Amino acid sequence: MTTPYMTKVAIIGGTGLTRLGDLKQLRRDALQTPYGQPSADFITGEWAQKEVVFLARHGDPHRIPPHKINYRANIWGLKQLGVENIIAVAAVGGITAAMAPAHIAIPDQVIDYSYGRAHTFFEDDDSAVTHIDFTLPYSSKLRMQLLAAAAQAGIAVAQGGTYGCTQGPRLETIAEIKRMEQDGCDLVGMTGMPEAALAKELGLHYASVSVIANWAAGKSEGEITMEDIEQNLHTGMANAAELLKAFIAISPDFVSSDRANC
Ligand code: HPA
Repeated sequence: MTTPYMTKVAIIGGTGLTRLGDLKQLRRDALQTPYGQPSADFITGEWAQKEVVFLARHGDPHRIPPHKINYRANIWGLKQLGVENIIAVAAVGGITAAMAPAHIAIPDQVIDYSYGRAHTFFEDDDSAVTHIDFTLPYSSKLRMQLLAAAAQAGIAVAQGGTYGCTQGPRLETIAEIKRMEQDGCDLVGMTGMPEAALAKELGLHYASVSVIANWAAGKSEGEITMEDIEQNLHTGMANAAELLKAFIAISPDFVSSDRANC
């Protein structure tokens, strides 16, 4: 009998998901990388009968703002640990009508408005200029598996959408959101890039589970309050955790905990 080829999956948790509830910890790795220090220790554990690596994008406790995250160290560290699949959970604002607060979207495109971030692994090697293909920024395989898991778990998700990545840490003006909408953005967040591109540069499958925390600027009456964001994230992240559990449980190609322990 041939053993099926199995790969490792990681979850990067964003605002509202600093720890993975009921992850049974097997290992904790404090890695140094050629790019500096990652956001936090990498926690390897058992979750939904599979081996999962968890990383808190903003640190644990949550302390690193989006523009200060060492995206290269985080992605490099995951690669060092043998991870081949990354699910990136992130809080976002909703721009278009389908992207209502407390809901989840699995975006399929990105526009990058961030600046000044270390955004590539290919900047020091003058011998070969490398241009990765980024036509599809997110892994179709992982997106399809996430959508199947959502259907199975009965969790409503928006199937696609364009994620616009702003620099932050401030939220946007009404005019900025209008411009982003004209550009084709459905969602606005601050951490989607360069994370997605760096994962692709290292040949990793990467998909985003975007949890909508608020209507983007000008899309609802009044200002955006932290209280509203926290309340919507509370509901949205609970659904995201259910979705991830279903996704990991039904995906046959991830390392099972039996194998992880031996
Ligand atoms: N804009 C940018 N990032 C965000 C927002 C927003 O409105 N909400 C949550 N993350």
